[in-house]
Formats: sequence, structure tokens, C-alpha cells
Amino acid sequence: MPKLNENYLNLKENYLFAEVNHRVRDYSAAHPDKKIIRLGIGDVTLPIGSEMIEQLHEGVDAMASSETFKGYGPEQGYEFLRNAIVDYYKRNGVSVAAEEIFVSDGAKSDTGNITDIFDKDNIVLIPDPVYPVYVDTNTMNGRNITFIDANAENNFLPMPDHSKHVDIIYICSPNNPTGAAYNHEQLKEWVDYALENDAIILYDSAYECFITDPSLPRSIFAIEGAKKCAIEFCSLSKTAGFTGTRCGYTVVPKDLKYATSNGGELSINAMWNRRQTTKFNGVSYIVQKGAAAAFSPEGMAQCKENIKYYQENAKIIASTMDKMGIRYFGGVNSPYIWFECPKGMESWEFFDYMLDKIQVVGTPGAGFGNNGKYFFRLTAFGNRENTIEAMKRFETLL
Ligand code: MLT
Repeated sequence: MPKLNENYLNLKENYLFAEVNHRVRDYSAAHPDKKIIRLGIGDVTLPIGSEMIEQLHEGVDAMASSETFKGYGPEQGYEFLRNAIVDYYKRNGVSVAAEEIFVSDGAKSDTGNITDIFDKDNIVLIPDPVYPVYVDTNTMNGRNITFIDANAENNFLPMPDHSKHVDIIYICSPNNPTGAAYNHEQLKEWVDYALENDAIILYDSAYECFITDPSLPRSIFAIEGAKKCAIEFCSLSKTAGFTGTRCGYTVVPKDLKYATSNGGELSINAMWNRRQTTKFNGVSYIVQKGAAAAFSPEGMAQCKENIKYYQENAKIIASTMDKMGIRYFGGVNSPYIWFECPKGMESWEFFDYMLDKIQVVGTPGAGFGNNGKYFFRLTAFGNRENTIEAMKRFETLL
């Protein structure tokens, strides 16, 4: 009989968004006449821009002729895409090298898979609330997690406790689920803390394209010293509408090296390369063609149009919260609005209440951690008509 990874016993029965889907499916089966509006999972609704679509088509056509056909590609991603990403960083004032970029099928996989290169015995610091992938994947590996409180008192932007040592630090900014975004000074404090503690920061910047405040950093590598203590995960899911198409990238600096127990040193870039070349055969050429187009001036302009549309949705949701006197966070440099559940309700209770009364689906804060127990997340990724309709219904809720 195989011995199972019983760390799985320590997970909740369902992944957060699977649980939300179950509940919605049950409600829908019992009330087939009701029109449900989904503002739960952060899934885009607008079609992909024509620049990207054209290149996706070109990628398909390349497969039809022996001159242009592609088999296995480089596991790290095609050079044309890695160079396009280097350029994108450059335009944002950050210098990274093509060999530091690893193209993947998305930030979710990479933030989960990165746990492969770390020993079980690390002190892992994860903010609460947080994107559940960080917690679940470390739990699967049997790691103990130390949580750091993100709450209304610290504007959901917790800062390091200099009296305590940790080895691995997860940061997501702009944050999923709270929408809070660190400024330069705050991130510098995290980088300094990591350097002092010989720790590593796993920085999820999947929502950087939503930053509107030009003073906010869009990458951890905009911070001095970060190349010696951080990995950055990013994605085209929200930037280019690739949630279904799947493409992301992880930046692993060459300077990132840590001591080994035999007195040597290991490069994190080399370890990640070893991990990826062993377990991953790369993203399809077709998808990478489309992804590269997102970084061209024309492609990026189309991406920005879509992002503007979602930002307008965020404003519609935020203004409803204002009107109703509900305290909320996010919605400005982020597609998420994180608000306090009305009437002191707990978040799963509010989820059921909202579904039952107005047939609007959101994501209960408790699904992101204990500090989300009385909070709720709505996404701006719905279509305009549904967002307006959902907010009209919301106004009748209380
Ligand atoms: C979310 O709703 O939190 C995101 O869509 C999840 C993800 O990007 O995987």
C-alpha cells in the first residue's frame, strides 16, 4: 500500500474557489429561475485584444508547415518572449536579464511549485489574509507557517517584526485579496529585513498592471538590494486577459545565492532552472507568440484599454460602498474591493445571505485567512452590465 502524503489531511476539504463553486451550483440547482451574477473569482471577462489574437493565429499557422513547425521549445521560454519581458521591465525602470526570466503557464503554478526548491524546515512567513495558494502548497509540503497579521489597523500592509527571524517571506502587492499596495519605503524595509536575516522574499506581482499611482513600485526589483533576496512572480492573466490562455513568468535573479550545509553555495536561478527543465516542458509556442504581442506598444495599449474598463468597474463598486457607508479597502491600485461584512456578519454567512437575497456571488474573506473572517471580496473583472446590476441589487440588501 502506498504511504500517502498525509499533509493533505491538514488542508480544507476544497480549494477556496472550488468551495464557492459548489455552493453556487447547489443554489442554482435549487433556484433555476434566478439570475446569478458572479463577482467571486478574479476571472477576466473581456476578449483578448486583436494584436495578441493575430499572433496566436500566426503561432497556429506556424504549426502547419514544416519550415516553421515547432516541437519542444526551451523550457525557460522562447528568447523572443524573454526579451520582450526584459523590455517591459526596462520601460518600468527596472533592469532584469533574459536568463533571469522563466516563462510558465502562470503565477499560480510557479508560486506553488517554488516550494520544491526549499527544505521542509524553514520558517515561512505568510500574511493573513492572503491568496490561498501560498498556504495550501506549504501545507502540502508539511511546512509550519508563521502568519503575520494584515488588518484594518495596518491598512492590510503588515511590516516586518525585526525582533523575529524568518527564512521565507511571501508578499503579494497589489494584494490579493485586500487590494492594498506597498510603497517604496515599505518594500525597502522588507528587502532590508530579508537581507539582514538571509531570508528570501517570494514576491507576487500578478496585479502590477492595476497600479495607477505612479509613485508605487510595480516590481520588487525597483527596490535596491532586492536582486539579492527576492524572486518575482508575474502573469499575463490579468494584464492581457490570459486566465484561460495561460502564461506567466518568474524572475529569478542570478545574484540570488544561499549557503548550503556542506559549506558550498547554491544559485536559486540554477535550482529553479533544474526544477523546471525536469518537471516542465515549457509553454506552447502559440501561447508565447500571443504573450509577446502583449508587450509590444500596440498590444500593451489594448491591454491597458481592458484594464481601464475593469478599473471603471472597481469605481462603480467602490462608489456603492461609499453610498452605503461600508468600510472598504482596495479598488484603486487593484481590481479587488475588500469590505467589511455588513451587520457584523461573518463572511461565509454573508456569502449565503447575499446569494440568497440578491443572487450576487463574491468571495468570503475567511477563505483567505482568519483575518478575513468579517471581510468580503468583490472583483471588478465582471462585465459592466453585470457590475451595475449587482450594485443596484446590493443597494437593496441592507
Ligand atoms: C482570485 O480570484 O483570487 C484569482 O483569480 C485566483 C488566481 O489568479 O488564481
